[in-house]
Amino acid sequence: MEYNQNKVIDEDRQGDAVEVQSNNTTGKKLYVESYGCQMNFSDSEVVASIMTNEGYSTTRNIEEADVVLINTCSIRDNAEQRVRNRLTEFKHRKEQNPDLVVGILGCMAERLKKSLLEEEKLVDLVAGPDAYRDLPNLVEEVGTGQRAVNVLLSRDETYADISPVRLDQGGISAFVTIMRGCDNMCSFCVVPFTRGRERSRDPHTIIEECRDLLSKGYREVTLLGQNVDSYRWNLTSKGEVKDANQPTTNFAQLMEMVALVSPELRIRFSTSHPKDMTDDVLEIMAKYENICPYIHLPVQSGNSAVLERMNRGYSREWYLDRIASIHRLIPNCAISTDIITGFCGETDEEHAETISLMEQVQFDFAYMFKYSERPKTLAERRFEDDVPEEVKAKRLNEIIELQLKHSRLSNDKQIGKTVKVLVEGTSKRSEEHLCGRNGQNAMVVFPRENYVKGQYVFVKITSCTSATLRGEAVSIC
Ligand code: 5AD
Ligand code: SF4
Repeated sequence: MEYNQNKVIDEDRQGDAVEVQSNNTTGKKLYVESYGCQMNFSDSEVVASIMTNEGYSTTRNIEEADVVLINTCSIRDNAEQRVRNRLTEFKHRKEQNPDLVVGILGCMAERLKKSLLEEEKLVDLVAGPDAYRDLPNLVEEVGTGQRAVNVLLSRDETYADISPVRLDQGGISAFVTIMRGCDNMCSFCVVPFTRGRERSRDPHTIIEECRDLLSKGYREVTLLGQNVDSYRWNLTSKGEVKDANQPTTNFAQLMEMVALVSPELRIRFSTSHPKDMTDDVLEIMAKYENICPYIHLPVQSGNSAVLERMNRGYSREWYLDRIASIHRLIPNCAISTDIITGFCGETDEEHAETISLMEQVQFDFAYMFKYSERPKTLAERRFEDDVPEEVKAKRLNEIIELQLKHSRLSNDKQIGKTVKVLVEGTSKRSEEHLCGRNGQNAMVVFPRENYVKGQYVFVKITSCTSATLRGEAVSIC
């Protein structure tokens, strides 16, 4: 999954809270804070929907909350540490207000289960990623003095019928979850243990959700899944039809269905997997102007032996072949990646191959991390986490520096061009400027004039940094 959009450093998105009113209010207020990947932010919208149906309204102000839920990430140890610190703060808050219910959701809830309740006494309630429908019951159980836990993983829960409560009201861009879980078992990754088996969501509910978003003023959807290329509806993992009387849908077909909702609705998706990304997906991307020419294709390492130890299911050559296909079929496509440095047994030579792959591909953007051993994963059981911390840090700095150079080069190439930008809102740095992304996912800042949020605007690029393009609006598209 994709993490923070604008930075190339090892730091997760964190701590967004939100406010939504319920129609049938009980007067009770819910505060939700989300950490980690886009899927968690999307899940928090499902949680908000479930709780507002129970009469809660959401608040951005933790002071007035009756229930505080924290949606967590386990992907690296530092992500968990950040949540633990936050839970300790909540514990102090609870000492002042004993009626406050504090609950933990998401991957840490699933991974640590009862220990957060029983040994560490940090929370009253624990709900794993497939247990959100049970939240109203769990909150009630806490009210009767019990400590409430549901961490059951499901083979078929997709929350398909739940209409997420959008937590950025008046928003332009929304996440739409198309599948949950992951069957891949990359050896470093905790996700298959915390989010369970892979399952796809009914395509008709996905299209309905996209239509509804369009009617509410949204102009961009990001289709989310841990491995979107293995989206399949009414098909087994071997590609056999499950029910001969029903149509089947793969990811390429789903994207086409979403593209046809409206040319005004722009489509992104995340995350693709190099072993599964087929040319038919690229062909559909090339066919529709409203599917953004941008692919996040995590490579993790440029060395085939490391990829083998990571159990990624592809080699360096295979990955480079996928990159060549992208360039052939979508010449203007931007490509970003994820890289892990210092994975078990990584030698200097293996690290040098990651550098050489980066030089060869010249990614437009990358999320880069030091390897962090996670309990129960294949890597923890099979290999030693033997690359010293200083070496991991040195290698990470090296690739960050290289990536900054490449991001800058990628942005430099845009100078003088006119790009189509979907306006997301006011620039963070200046009220006088608007910001939005082009199809390739680069952030563009330009003078506000009379343009407004939600418009597609042609912007002529005049300058850049490694993170942002700057320009002047030319016209509405
Ligand atoms: N250590 C470091 N990075 C990790 N990622 C996943 N698991 C780990 C880990 N144990 C990274 C991968 C993945 C991204 C979401 O997080 O690069 O693609
Ligand atoms: Fe983790 Fe690999 Fe699944 Fe991504 S594809 S969630 S890295 S196991």
